[in-house]
Amino acid sequence: EVLDCRGLHVLPGLIDPHVHLRDPGDPKVENVSDGTRAAVLGGLAAVFDMPNTTPLIDRRERLDWKRAYVQGRAWCDVGLYVGATKTNINALAELELQPNVCAIKVFAGSSTGDLLVEDDESLERVMRAGRRRVCYHSEDEYRLQARRKLFTPGMPHRNHMEWRDVETAFLGTRRLMALARRTGRPAHILHVSTAEELEYLKDFRDIATVEVLVNHLSQTDEAYDRLGGYAVMNPPIRDARHREAAWAAVRDGTVDCVGSDHAPHSRAAKERPWPDTAAGLTGVQTLVPLMLDHVNAGRLSLTRLADLMCAGPARVYGVVGKGRLAAGYDADFTVVDLGKRRVIEESWIVSPCGWTPFAGQECTGWPVMTIIRGQVVMREDEVLGPPRGGLVRFAEARGF
Ligand code: DOR
Ligand code: ZN
Ligand code: ZN
Repeated sequence: EVLDCRGLHVLPGLIDPHVHLRDPGDPKVENVSDGTRAAVLGGLAAVFDMPNTTPLIDRRERLDWKRAYVQGRAWCDVGLYVGATKTNINALAELELQPNVCAIKVFAGSSTGDLLVEDDESLERVMRAGRRRVCYHSEDEYRLQARRKLFTPGMPHRNHMEWRDVETAFLGTRRLMALARRTGRPAHILHVSTAEELEYLKDFRDIATVEVLVNHLSQTDEAYDRLGGYAVMNPPIRDARHREAAWAAVRDGTVDCVGSDHAPHSRAAKERPWPDTAAGLTGVQTLVPLMLDHVNAGRLSLTRLADLMCAGPARVYGVVGKGRLAAGYDADFTVVDLGKRRVIEESWIVSPCGWTPFAGQECTGWPVMTIIRGQVVMREDEVLGPPRGGLVRFAEARGF
């Protein structure tokens, strides 16, 4: 097919390396089909899906089930994380080499689901278990539990930011870096959210890569007053000092990837009083429009965006190809109209939970076509079927 892209920009197929498609789990909140449909509408050619589902993706049978399940249901390509638990550490070396596994994911801090490896001894065993880069959610669980006592149920949601304070995040990341240095195992630190961590991680470029989230680049603590529970996520939205530090880190090269941490929950779960409000926000469909709006505002170049959202994930996770073809020949593209202005409307969101924390926000710059392996799968808000998503392939062993 010959496509007329006059007046548009053609980018390599963009990747969201951090989504929770909740499948298996609660299909009325999110599932592979709707979540990947949201992704292609939002201009993404691939997503990497987190393992804290019900049940967890933490063993071979469930991974194999998921690999089969994704085919024929996914609208974009999918890479799969495997979760580390205290009981599967001996199996991790083999699991990380299974086809289509983007990385082992370690929740070293509290999260949704039962994946938690928090003590130093277990974390060190995880690090010694294999060879590929390990992905970490690094908030410090011990400190979070202790600090929770300082807060009273029903307090305003803003207290979420105070509870998960800078020191809590920083302690977790420092602990992980000490272990990573000792074991020599490369690390990818997910959703770094504080100025302090970003500064600190500059000294670990040889061993650690960094993800920041579009939320931490786009929102500040005023969101709690405006959105209540719909601003609650982990790590939390913080004040403007941290947002500016995230932008500085994007510009100076400290950041390797930008993701959405798309983590849908039901409206009922988001409307529970704090601190029982479910943490996590939808984002897979709004990631590219928000980043293009940042391009238009002069916060980063289109080239840097493509680096953070395609070359970065490809390098960090070791993408070797997304289909049957060799690396670099997949013909995956995201075509964008930098001049298109449009308001994010809740009715546009196709994730079944049906909400977005960005409703009402106007973005300048929108994806207008998503192309996977030469096939147009989204054009001007229309998804063109059947679902053609496949499983992403990764290099067997990446030292860095
Ligand atoms: O806000 C979050 N939501 N942070 C996490 O680490 C987990 C995620 C989820 O799965 O809901
Ligand atoms: Zn996380
Ligand atoms: Zn996450």
